[in-house]
Amino acid sequence: MAKKTKVGILTGGGDCPGLNSVIYGIMLKAFDAGYECVGILKGWKGFLENITIPLNIAEHDDLHTVGGTLLYTSRTNPFEPIKKAKSEHEKEQLKKEISEKMLAQFKTLGIDALIVIGGDDTLGVADTVCKKTNAKIIGCPKTIDNDLLGTDYTFGFWSAVQLASNSMDNLTTTARSHQRIFVVEVMGRDAGFLTIYSGISSGADIILIPETPFDLKKHIVEVLQRRVRAGHKYHIIACSEGAYPTQESLEKDFQTISKETIDNLPKDPFGNPLLNKLNMSQILVEELKLRDELAKEFEKNDANFECRSVVLGHTMRAGTPNSFDRILGLRLGLHAMKLVIDNEFGKMVSLRGEEIKALPLAEGAKKKYVAPDGDIVELRNLMVKIRYKSREIE
Ligand code: F6P
Repeated sequence: MAKKTKVGILTGGGDCPGLNSVIYGIMLKAFDAGYECVGILKGWKGFLENITIPLNIAEHDDLHTVGGTLLYTSRTNPFEPIKKAKSEHEKEQLKKEISEKMLAQFKTLGIDALIVIGGDDTLGVADTVCKKTNAKIIGCPKTIDNDLLGTDYTFGFWSAVQLASNSMDNLTTTARSHQRIFVVEVMGRDAGFLTIYSGISSGADIILIPETPFDLKKHIVEVLQRRVRAGHKYHIIACSEGAYPTQESLEKDFQTISKETIDNLPKDPFGNPLLNKLNMSQILVEELKLRDELAKEFEKNDANFECRSVVLGHTMRAGTPNSFDRILGLRLGLHAMKLVIDNEFGKMVSLRGEEIKALPLAEGAKKKYVAPDGDIVELRNLMVKIRYKSREIE
C-alpha cells in the first residue's frame, strides 16, 4: 500500500473556542482525500521536541463542538534566541539557522506538511520559516481578540463576545442591588474589539479600549458625576485589559501608578506585556476611591459610592464555541486542508465576506485595531453620552 501523505497540525498561543472545530474540519477533508493527520502537542514546543499523537477521525466524532484544543497549546517562541542578537545581520543569520532546523524537524516528525493554527505570534513564526526555507506550511488565523488584519473575523471572537456580554448583563443585577460601580476587565491585549462589542451589546455605561486612550477625569470621573446627577444609581464600566490613560492623564490624574508601572511589566516569550499583572480594572477602582469630588457628588445625589472590579479573564475563552465559531472553524479547517492538497504552501486561510479565501501567510501576522473613526466607536460614544444627556434638565 502506498504511504499516505502525513499532515501535522499544531495550535499555538492562547486557546480559543473553535480550535477543535478547525482541527475536525482538517481531519474530515484529510480522511476523505486519503491523507493522514498527526497531532503535534503544545504548539511550537511539541514541534521542536517531537511530542505527537496520532489523529484517528473515528475516535473524534463531533470534535467541533468541544471547546479548547485537543492538541494543547503553549506560547513557545522558536525564534526567542534572536532577541539576543547584537546586529541586524546576526538576527537574519539566526533566523535562517533556526528556520533550517525547523525544516529538518519535518523529517524527524515524519510529516510532509504542517497546518499551524495560531495568532500573530504563532503565524509570524510560520511565516519566517516559509520565507527562509521551502517548508510546506499553511496557516489558520486564531484569536478571541479578533485583531488579525488578514481576516474579517477570527473564530472564537463571537463566542468570547457573548460570554463577556452575558457576564456584564448578569453583573448589572448585583450592581443595581448594591448601587455600585463595577469596573469589568475584558481580555484583548492590544485591540479593543472584545471590550467594545461586548460593552455595547450589554449596554455598559463607560467603555474603555486601547485604541482610544482615556482621560481619567474627562472620560470617567466627569461622566460618573453627570450620570449620578441624572439619576443613575449604578454603573458598569467595561475596561479592556489593554486600555491605557493618555500620557497627560497618567501624569496629572493618577496617584497609584506611573509610566514606569506600565513600561516595566513582565513580558511573555513573544515580548507581549503580561497585562493581568497590571490589572487596570483594580487600578481604576483604587483611583476612583481617591476622588473626593466623586464621593461628594454621589452623596449629594443620595447614591452609594462603592466600586468593585471584576476580571473576566480566562472565563472569556472557556467553554464551548457558539455555532458561528463552530461553522467558521470547520470551514477554515476544510480550506486549509484543500490548500495542502493543492500544494499551495506559504498561505493562510481567511474569512472575506461570506467566503474563505487564501492569502499570503504574512497577512496573518499583521495586526488589526478598532478604527477610532468607525461606526462602532461612534455608537459607543453616543451610548455613553446620551444616557446622561437625555436625562439632564436643561
Ligand atoms: O491573545 C489572546 C489573549 O486572550 C489576550 O486577550 C490575553 O491578554 C492573553 O491571551 C492572555 O494570555 P494567557 O492565557 O497566557 O494569560
